[in-house]
Amino acid sequence: MTAHIIDIALDPEAALAEALAVLGEGYPVAIPTETVYGLAADATNPAAITRIYETKGRPRFNPLICHMANLAMAERYAQFDPLSRRLAQAFWPGPLTLILPVRDDSGIHGLATAGLDTVGIRVPKGFAALLIARFDRPLAAPSANTSGKISPTSAAHVAEDLGDRLRLILDGGDAPVGVESTIVRVDDGRIRLLRPGGVSAEAIEAVSGIAVLRPDGPSATIEAPGMLASHYAPGAAVRLNATEAQADEALIRFGGQPLAGVDQAIAIFDLSPSGDLAEAATNLFATLKRADASGATRIAVAAIPDHGLGEAINDRLARAAAPRD
Ligand code: TXA
Ligand code: MG
Repeated sequence: MTAHIIDIALDPEAALAEALAVLGEGYPVAIPTETVYGLAADATNPAAITRIYETKGRPRFNPLICHMANLAMAERYAQFDPLSRRLAQAFWPGPLTLILPVRDDSGIHGLATAGLDTVGIRVPKGFAALLIARFDRPLAAPSANTSGKISPTSAAHVAEDLGDRLRLILDGGDAPVGVESTIVRVDDGRIRLLRPGGVSAEAIEAVSGIAVLRPDGPSATIEAPGMLASHYAPGAAVRLNATEAQADEALIRFGGQPLAGVDQAIAIFDLSPSGDLAEAATNLFATLKRADASGATRIAVAAIPDHGLGEAINDRLARAAAPRD
């Protein structure tokens, strides 16, 4: 099997018709979202969800985010408390996932929620939301990459990794946000951050007027089951907070900082020469892939500020650098 790739901008009607046909037959379709490309399938169809796990080689205890067309649709599948609804109104469509109690009669299959009584829900921007509205069922969609590898921010990334295992890839251009959605869970009027992502904690605090709670550190219980230590792993080893480049390394800089030893580096990249964290997030995964393809055995990454979208960037870099077993 070789995936058919349709450029949405060239033929949106064909993209919609072909995607609806493949989804209706219970097969996954790779779709663009504003964060990363997703591997989307009917969240109410167990055979379709099983194909997502098989295509990615993903452990089944790791639940999937269910994507909705809008808040009204989301309310049919999950129970919203007032604070979660306020966050949804502020950030949807957009890169925020809310963990909410799933409705008993929702029809979302237990394979999508990994048997939990909660479901992760978000409303994506752009063509994905249109597709879901037309399909009129939620789409379960993890990132469209082999489990544990770097998430795809372009249709070409998806094709390289999974092109021979998929029927259809919709090409919507480069993903503008570049890191996955922020995952939060509201309980007892508190907002807990389960995964930093495309909406900064500061933006959530500004809208809610409430401090966002972080996990207590590395030993804290993993509440988003997918937050495994090693993830986003390139082939090359990753060295963080580099202050100089060593021989045979690819170097990833930020904000045009000067670093010693650059002439020894095999390749040099800058996530954002102007020091813009949102631009750095957009470029992160593609840059990791290019650094990996440079032939370097190790990728050295300079320190990135930890505020705003820097929190999501540093989370992904820490997982890329984590020991692998
Ligand atoms: O931006 C994104 O969120 C992308 C695009 C495609 O929407 N999707 C994505 O999915 O990143 P994935 O599968 O790579 O990550 C989903 C995360 C996992 O860490 C999973 O454990 C967590 O969401 N999750 C899903 N349902 C959950 C639940 N009921 N409770 C806690 N965590 C949940
Ligand atoms: Mg993923």
